[in-house]
Amino acid sequence: MSVVFDWRDAPRAEFAVIGYPVKHSLSPAMHSAVYENLGLNYRYLALTIPPEEFSEGLAHLHSLGYLGLNVTVPHKAAAARWALLPDDSVRDLGVANTLSLQDGRATNTDAPGFLDTLTDLHLKPGRALVLGAGGTTRALLPGMLQIGWEVHLWNRTQSKAFELAEQVSGPIQVVDSLKTEGFSLILNTTSASLSGSELPLEWSPSTEKGVAYDLAYGNGPTPFLQVAESHGWETCDGRALLVAQGARSFEWWTGLTAPRDVMKAAVS
Ligand code: ATR
Repeated sequence: MSVVFDWRDAPRAEFAVIGYPVKHSLSPAMHSAVYENLGLNYRYLALTIPPEEFSEGLAHLHSLGYLGLNVTVPHKAAAARWALLPDDSVRDLGVANTLSLQDGRATNTDAPGFLDTLTDLHLKPGRALVLGAGGTTRALLPGMLQIGWEVHLWNRTQSKAFELAEQVSGPIQVVDSLKTEGFSLILNTTSASLSGSELPLEWSPSTEKGVAYDLAYGNGPTPFLQVAESHGWETCDGRALLVAQGARSFEWWTGLTAPRDVMKAAVS
């Protein structure tokens, strides 16, 4: 597990992930494995920046010569506002997870990285049950709808699911029951797994099973994935998205091809 520095104590490096808090980030190990594999003389660190110190923190890292940052909770919207040159994805979604510090460019690799993971799972667009209507779903939903997914959206606080369905155009149906029947994908974007809570899913006994995908990950399978697996569903956790978005960030910064197998091995 990597050391986490406060931005004021940040050593010189080329890349970092910034968040608040940044706990147990696998990004430094994952990117360092890429640098080692490709023989690049770069360093990638994990740094904390409190929300109110975002601009000051970025100016300091810029002055230290940092080239690029990955941005995580709670800074993704602030990162989009910081960007002098946001690309279309950042303009459309209002959130950025990848910054080029020296020239003010910003992109969002979460949304296309997520679609990469669906391709890796050999999932063709069909019916998806999406759990959660927070910032993550807001960023991933447009891409899913664009490639043809029909989304059934459930949220613990249902009014938020309706709000999100109104903001995003496409075939979204807000649902209040969690029956798994008929879905080829169940995507959990909620933070229920992080608090160890179980979601009130009603697993169908039917033989048609799909993929249960939890964007969270921990040391072992999340509670959601444990139950899914016991019902015979294929499972995938948030490491897949971690690798996919990280690979795209690396490629955006360097123009090189990321060795995804090396990155997967570094986080598993
Ligand atoms: P993110 O940006 O990661 O999506 P968020 O915007 O804080 O984070 O959203 C968290 C999501 O997890 C919400 O959909 C939240 O449901 P509410 O809108 O009802 O708060 C959901 N969530 C958090 N804890 C949950 C739990 N124990 N059971 C079900 N949903 C939960």
